[in-house]
Amino acid sequence: MSQRPRILITCDTFTEVIDFAREHFEVVDSQGRAQSAAAELRERLHGMDGVLVAGTDRIDAALLDAAPAVRAVAIAAVGYNSIDIAACNARGVLATNTPGILDDTTADLGFALILAASRRLGEGERYLRANRWKRWENDLLLGQDVHHRTLGIVGMGRIGQALARRAGGFDMPVVYHNRNRVDSAIEDRLGARWLPLDELFATADVVCLCLPYSQAAHHLVDAALLARMKPTAVLVNIARGGIVDENALIEALRERRIAAAGLDVYEGEPALNPGLLELDNAVLVPHIGSATRETRIAMGLCAARNLKAALEGGVPPNLINPEALAQAGTRRA
Ligand code: GLV
Repeated sequence: MSQRPRILITCDTFTEVIDFAREHFEVVDSQGRAQSAAAELRERLHGMDGVLVAGTDRIDAALLDAAPAVRAVAIAAVGYNSIDIAACNARGVLATNTPGILDDTTADLGFALILAASRRLGEGERYLRANRWKRWENDLLLGQDVHHRTLGIVGMGRIGQALARRAGGFDMPVVYHNRNRVDSAIEDRLGARWLPLDELFATADVVCLCLPYSQAAHHLVDAALLARMKPTAVLVNIARGGIVDENALIEALRERRIAAAGLDVYEGEPALNPGLLELDNAVLVPHIGSATRETRIAMGLCAARNLKAALEGGVPPNLINPEALAQAGTRRA
């Protein structure tokens, strides 16, 4: 009987995912464990054929070299900037992600942050819990309207489009920036108008970042772009922390050059820039864009199915790096 592939699941996951994985693999799981440090991950990965990772595990050349049997890396996330794809390609390691499953859940969180930052929900909650609410006041916690304000979406992929659909319910005109304009039929359906990036920042009342992280997107939102925004504008980031120059954002918020920000992602997460914590006009949540039970189970199962296809010698449905297939074929032969 041929041996079943051995896989490591590096992250805590739901039993549905573990059960599925156990039907197909010899599984080393991480239930109840804290996230492995890099050195520990290297040790745990040794001898494995595949690995199911969380978005926080760094998969790089050194790690792959320390685990030469690994043939597939499945990330339970849509963003895969934590995986060195060139290193995977060079070693014939197939890498997969989980697109399409978390769009609505992440767009919901995006909209929650738009509302929370615009209407000062974090401040309101802190005010109430501190027992400071003594009387009705006409100008207590005045915020920014959301309805009928222009929403600027940077990155019009699936999540950006899901956000644009939600904007319709708030009668918000939508402008967007994307490297390539989306199909005009999609623009028409969403009522979305393409703008150059600097014009979008100057025009929008709410800017929401929905683009993937890449070297080219590093600090895309810098002091100069922030300076284009209206003093009443709100910035929301549900993409990746590194896209925003966090120090520049903190300055803009501190000096009230923009009204507020809603952030799910951070440059050095889970470490936080202490400057952010001092700001009342920033709503901060800990990278929970896809965090509902249903969606996280679906993401875990999707990653496990990708791993199954890859380790059975097939082409996984969500293969990121078809470039690795030829090299992978050589390894299998
Ligand atoms: C979450 O950030 C993801 O990329 O899925």
